[in-house]
Amino acid sequence: MKISFRLIISLLIATAVVVLLFSYVQTQVEERKLSEDLSLRSRLVGKSFKEAIEPFLEQTEHPGRIRQFMEKFKGHTRLIGIFVKLKGEKLIAYPDGMPEQAASFGELDQIEQRDQIIERREKWDGKDVLFYALPIEKEETVVGAVGVIHDRSYITRRIKESWKRLAVTFSILALVLSITTVVVIRWSITGPIAKIADWAKKARMGEASPSPPASGQEKGEMERLVFEIGHMASSLKAARLDLYEQAQTKQFQDSVWNKERLKEYLRSKLGNTPLFVVANREPYIHRKKGDELECIVPASGVVTALDPVLQATGGVWLAHGSGNADRETVNQDGKLLVPPWNPSYSLKRVWLDEAEEKGYYYGFSNEGLWPLCHITHTRPVFRIEDWEQYQKVNRKFADSLLKELSDAPPVILIQDYHFALVPKMIKDERPDAKVALFWHIPWPNPEAFGICPWQEEILEGMLGSDLIGFHTQFHCNNFLDTIDRVLESRIDWTVFGVTRSGKISYVRPFPISIAASNGQVAADAQEEELKKLKKTYGLEGKKIGVGVDRIDYTKGLLERFRAIERTLEKYPQYKGKLVFVELGAPSRALIPSYQNHVREVEELVQKINDRFRDGDYLPILFLKEHHGHERIQSFYRLADFCLVSSLHDGMNLVAKEFVAARDDENGVLILSRFAGASRELQSALQINPYHIEGTAEAIYQALTMLPEEKQERMKRMRTIIQERNVYRWAAEFVTELVKSF
Ligand code: G6P
Repeated sequence: MKISFRLIISLLIATAVVVLLFSYVQTQVEERKLSEDLSLRSRLVGKSFKEAIEPFLEQTEHPGRIRQFMEKFKGHTRLIGIFVKLKGEKLIAYPDGMPEQAASFGELDQIEQRDQIIERREKWDGKDVLFYALPIEKEETVVGAVGVIHDRSYITRRIKESWKRLAVTFSILALVLSITTVVVIRWSITGPIAKIADWAKKARMGEASPSPPASGQEKGEMERLVFEIGHMASSLKAARLDLYEQAQTKQFQDSVWNKERLKEYLRSKLGNTPLFVVANREPYIHRKKGDELECIVPASGVVTALDPVLQATGGVWLAHGSGNADRETVNQDGKLLVPPWNPSYSLKRVWLDEAEEKGYYYGFSNEGLWPLCHITHTRPVFRIEDWEQYQKVNRKFADSLLKELSDAPPVILIQDYHFALVPKMIKDERPDAKVALFWHIPWPNPEAFGICPWQEEILEGMLGSDLIGFHTQFHCNNFLDTIDRVLESRIDWTVFGVTRSGKISYVRPFPISIAASNGQVAADAQEEELKKLKKTYGLEGKKIGVGVDRIDYTKGLLERFRAIERTLEKYPQYKGKLVFVELGAPSRALIPSYQNHVREVEELVQKINDRFRDGDYLPILFLKEHHGHERIQSFYRLADFCLVSSLHDGMNLVAKEFVAARDDENGVLILSRFAGASRELQSALQINPYHIEGTAEAIYQALTMLPEEKQERMKRMRTIIQERNVYRWAAEFVTELVKSF
């Protein structure tokens, strides 16, 4: 039997019992009241009649007078008749025709006492009547009696009518109750239960959204039920996810990932669907110096990580064409095949005018979002005109990408803080697209992010993605906390998913890496190159430290050089012996905070070099220019230690590149614990870059470390980097993206 039917029947029985009881009591009360009224009326009539006729008894013609007086009661409400019986005389009755019938009231004769009365209900002449009699007195002696008969059938009629009225009231009540019960049950019990049952079925089959459907009616027990079922399902999903991830990890761990394996793997996952990468920085920049055309690979973590992936998989990379010879080297669609020396994928250049570049790139991206996300005490600047350009350029990239897409559902990997709005723009046009956003820089806590005046739009744009990746779980948590604080959405912390307007975005950590190859560099060639370099920079017989960075205030260059200075102060035996080579690539040079920073760094280097200069000896070589891959690799190999002192960094691939370059298992990595890489590279000497003394100690430790310890540490880090290289990163990232469908 259905729950609503059972509930209605029970409610009706209960209501009927209550209504019956109530009605019975009410009719009893009403009947008593009406009877009492009638009785009172009878007594009044009887008494007043008696008092009126008693004086007639003195007169001889009293029967006539009494009969006459009776006439006056004609039409008296409900009065059927009046009788007078005087002892020894004939019955006088009103109206006519009563005598015969009134014979039944012979008992009038039996009234002997002055206080004797008779009051009785009777059936008389087919009617329900009230008979009332009382004595007639003459000189205080009972000489007869008077009787009055009142019709009381109206009382029975009234009671019947009351029962009828109650029956109608009950029917209406029953109808209203039934309808209300059905509606309430459907609305707050069976409806939500049916929805939850549907959802639970889907959850069992692994198809449902992470949380049970919210009808908005769940309160009290139902709310608890939804909550508990949601949790049960989340646990089920988490257990499944665990198993899946275990299987996945096993699959990813099975052997080292390389270009070929990634290519095969993605082909099996995506078929012939091409990969699209959207990143502001292009992987190859064409520049003209005089008449000479050169192609350089810029200093960018995004480029270091993703270029090898696209070389393996093919596809299209959409980027800002920023080189002064970029236009000369593309076809009419703005495209060219790259790398120029081994064409593997397409680079599509998007052109920006000066105002766009100023507002979107220098302004909103690098004076706003960059310092906002890096906690390095540099104030973010948010200007409305920059925000307008940011929106405009995001639209431009989205449109340019949309033009490239065929009808097949595309896989799109959007990179970094330059394009927070692009995911939603793409998804709005192409809901079938698989869109992932990878955020290469840190994500701060919600309070810090709240500084951005357009935080809602940024978050909304990002949630157009099916998958959002950060380097660390900590940044994922910060991001979800920010969403929780700013947007109306449902967050499922067991699967790290955000549901907004019915769409879910998963938020996961994917520590990015480099294309660490296992291949040995030809040993002879290496030796020759290193010798040349040492000679050029006067490094023979020296202890060498190296730093490789874009010149950016987040990299901790000032702290790094102060630590070198402190090392020389504290351990003077290294004066004239220790040289720190900084390969600093100029970056974002139009931004005032960068210009100031370069000035400060140069002044500090000058000051330290002046202090410890000795003949040709300078403790710091600040090589401020763009450095090619080969030269950087050579310096990595030359170094006794590499110092990464970022004040805050999403990952920092320099640390990983240094380790990958040391196939001799030599050299020490000194690594800031505020860089994402420090989570994986636990065998590095980890420092707090703000603590100059501590960094100087780490430098001394690196300079005096026994070769066995260096080797042990380097070996461990190399294993990690070879296993978790960028090919594996790409495989995991795309697998997760495709899985979320
Ligand atoms: C960081 C960002 C990248 C950026 C790189 C270089 O690593 O995460 O998106 O490409 O810096 O900065 P630039 O402004 O020269 O592209």
